[in-house]
Amino acid sequence: MSTQRILTGITTTGTPHLGNYVGAIRPAIAESQRQDVETFYFLADYHALIKCQEPDLVHQSTREIAATWLALGLDTNTSVFYRQSDVPEIPQLCWLLTCVAAKGLMNRAHAYKAAVDANREAGEDPDYGVSMGLFSYPVLMATDILMFNAHKVPVGRDQIQHIEMARDIGARFNHIYGDTFVLPEAQVDDKVAVLQGLDGRKMSKSYGNTIPLFLPEKKLKKHINKIKTNLLEPGDPKDPDTSTVFQIWQAFATDEQTAEMRQAFADGIAWGEAKKQLFELINEQIAPARERYDALLADGEQIEAVLQAGAEKARAVSRPLLAKARAAVGIRPLHG
Ligand code: TRP
Repeated sequence: MSTQRILTGITTTGTPHLGNYVGAIRPAIAESQRQDVETFYFLADYHALIKCQEPDLVHQSTREIAATWLALGLDTNTSVFYRQSDVPEIPQLCWLLTCVAAKGLMNRAHAYKAAVDANREAGEDPDYGVSMGLFSYPVLMATDILMFNAHKVPVGRDQIQHIEMARDIGARFNHIYGDTFVLPEAQVDDKVAVLQGLDGRKMSKSYGNTIPLFLPEKKLKKHINKIKTNLLEPGDPKDPDTSTVFQIWQAFATDEQTAEMRQAFADGIAWGEAKKQLFELINEQIAPARERYDALLADGEQIEAVLQAGAEKARAVSRPLLAKARAAVGIRPLHG
């Protein structure tokens, strides 16, 4: 069997936050250090256009996300790190796959269905505000994956359906045109924490409850102070298992530190003190990366050069695979 190839994409909307770090970036970088797998990580900037039509935001987010992964130590010698839009084979293959993807399959995609349901509820036309980009989003995502013959795709639970659609589309192509694509599997890690945000719901840009990863120290402290707690006084025993402060603590602490904090909650640690300790724990872990981040962010040229080198490595895979897929469908030179 060939080396397992692991691939995942990050949509370039928004600024990376602690939830992205704990739930996606940290485990992805750890995985990239394994000797027995190949990792492909990319900035999904074509996907960003589906959600965001503000050019400056897409551009800035691309820069921030790239700088974040590099600052956190992603080794681009061992991992292939690239920008989707630097791989022209992707939109080309996307069309070939669009022509085998069943429309009925797309009708069932959660993101599209949610938009239709919201429109119905509001008494609008069901397809109000739905672009073809949103509708065929799963085909583009399938292309990202099939283009590199990825075996495993680490994603959150909300993305499992998309990976299944990628399998479906890949299998259909293989069935019609002969074996061309590896059929991918979703990799959902239950041990990876889904971090809570300031209000106790899942930390997510769409809830506006995030703590950005590389805030300047003072601002990080301020944000942590905004985490919702209850009215229990210093000295009152507190329940760690319903506390966002504790939940975030756990995502950064060693087992021993977690046990200590659990005890401190039982002993009635003041919220202010618990937050102060949380700030110190997080700050200590991210401060060195934050310095690298600030330096990288100010040096677009360096990031660009890294991405271009990544695109070359990616295209060493995508060019021959596109050629194979084109030949399979009958697009090939007329001699021979
Ligand atoms: N749709 C994914 C998300 O919003 C991002 C993404 C785009 C992706 N293409 C991908 C993830 C391919 C994994 C594989 O999170």
